[in-house]
Amino acid sequence: MEQPMTKRIGVLFFSPTNTTKKICDAIASGMGSDDPVVLDMTHPGKRAEIIANANTVLNEVDHLIVGAPVYCGKLPLQTIECLGALKGYGKKSTAVAVYGNRDYGIALYNMVEMLSQNGFNVMAAGLFIGQHSYSDVVPVAMGRPDESDIEKAQKFGTQILNVSRPLSIKDIPTQWDKHSKSKKYTALKPTYRRKICVKCGRCAAVCPTGILSPETGKHLNRHVKKICIGCMACVNNCKSGARISKANPIVGIIMKSVLGQASRVRKEPFIIT
Ligand SMILES: Cc1cc2nc3c(=O)[nH]c(=O)nc-3n(C[C@H](O)[C@H](O)[C@H](O)COP(=O)(O)O)c2cc1C
Repeated sequence: MEQPMTKRIGVLFFSPTNTTKKICDAIASGMGSDDPVVLDMTHPGKRAEIIANANTVLNEVDHLIVGAPVYCGKLPLQTIECLGALKGYGKKSTAVAVYGNRDYGIALYNMVEMLSQNGFNVMAAGLFIGQHSYSDVVPVAMGRPDESDIEKAQKFGTQILNVSRPLSIKDIPTQWDKHSKSKKYTALKPTYRRKICVKCGRCAAVCPTGILSPETGKHLNRHVKKICIGCMACVNNCKSGARISKANPIVGIIMKSVLGQASRVRKEPFIIT
C-alpha cells in the first residue's frame, strides 16, 4: 500500500546571535516538526552551498519557514542574496523577521515581496522580538525571545497548519523611518583585544562574513575590516573577552538615545495569517 507523504518543514535562517533561529525552531515545533530540514544562511560556506544548489535544496521541503533579523530597518544583505537565488515553484512558506524591540522597518515586507516574486506562496508572516545585538552597550529586550515569545511562536506554527489562502503583500505592515528609507547599514564593529585572545578560532567559525583568521583571531587582512556587518556573533561566542562591543563616546551617546528609547516599552510579537 502506498504510504502517505509526510509533510517536511524546512527552516532557512540568518541568525548571528541565535534569536531568529530560536523563533524559527519554535514555529517549526508548533507545526509538528522538531526535526526540520535546516538551511543555515548564517555561515558563508553554507550560504554559498544553498545558492549553488538553489534548484535542489528545497526538494525535500513542503513548507519553508524563512527567518532573518532586522538590520537598520531592512533585511541583511546576506539574506537578500540567498533569497534572490531560491525559487518556490508554488511551495508554501512563512516569513519571519526578528527585531530588537526598536523598529522592524521594511524587512518583513521585503521578505514577503521577494518570496512571492520568486514563486513561493507565503501563507503566514510574523514579527518577533529578540535581544538587541547591541545590548552590551545599551540593554534592550534582554533574554528575548523569552518563554512567552516561544509559546507565541509555537502557537503561531500550529495556526499556520490551518491557513488555506496565501497572504497579499498589502497585509504586511511597514515602519518607514530614516533607517529603512536609507540604503545604508550602520553597524557597531566589535573591538578586538589582541593581548587576551587565546586564538581558539571560535570567532572565525561563527563570522557570517568569513573575515577572521581561525589561527590568529585577527582580520584576514586590513582590507576586510570594512566588510564586518557588526552582527556580534564573534562577541557572543568569545569566551576570553577578546572581542567586545564597545562604542566610542560620541557613538555611545547616539546609541543610548536611540536604544534607550527602544528599551522603555516591551513590544510583542505580531502575526499575520
Ligand atoms: C547592524 C544591526 C542593525 C540592527 N538594526 C535594528 C533595527 O533597525 N531595529 C531593531 O529593532 N533591531 C535592530 N537590530 C537588532 C536585531 O534585529 C536583533 O537583535 C535580532 O534579534 C538579532 O537577530 P539574531 O539573534 O538572529 O542575530 C540590529 C542589529 C544589528 C547587528
